[in-house]
Amino acid sequence: MAIQFTLNGKAQSVDVDPQMPLLWVLRDTLNLTGTKFGCGMALCGACTVHIDGEATRSCVTPVSEVAGKKVTTIEGLSAGLSHPVQKAWIELDVPQCGYCQSGQIMSAAALLAKKSRPTDAEVDDAMSGNICRCGTYQRIREAIHRAAQMHAAAAGQKTSPEKQTKEPGETAAMTSNEPAAVATGAGGAE
Ligand code: FES
Ligand code: FES
Repeated sequence: MAIQFTLNGKAQSVDVDPQMPLLWVLRDTLNLTGTKFGCGMALCGACTVHIDGEATRSCVTPVSEVAGKKVTTIEGLSAGLSHPVQKAWIELDVPQCGYCQSGQIMSAAALLAKKSRPTDAEVDDAMSGNICRCGTYQRIREAIHRAAQMHAAAAGQKTSPEKQTKEPGETAAMTSNEPAAVATGAGGAE
């Protein structure tokens, strides 16, 4: 029986084994390869997506669990890499090999949707399940704080009538899981 859910803002239906991991469905059935396979055991975070806004390991999530829910992948995080986390990642040149980075970005975006100005301890706690073999942790932390600044600045512009003109893409709300065009933000081999 087909499983229906919302994927990056669009209705999606897949006719697969209900126990198939969501990651397999995304990558192999739907050809969305921005979400990576690392361990397959919920240990590395490379496969992180949002399910109803929660950062979730898609490698251990049966696709049946997302029926009727909203799934967001790195491809749907924003239009044109306009999410503050993506912009901060680019500004601070965070990735090294890139393989872990879509998962890192999705975890960071979920964190900032809940905590607009997280402390270092909150960042470390939220990101502790995302492993980076290249050791980019310091830049990841800096980029999360930078994204929080960008978001605060954008929010200030929104509420200030004399500052209605925004930089391109600066309006992307970190609470938004609405997708847009394909915006794959991370590198790394498929
Ligand atoms: S591949 Fe899912 S946590 Fe490692
Ligand atoms: S950038 Fe290489 S594993 Fe994280």
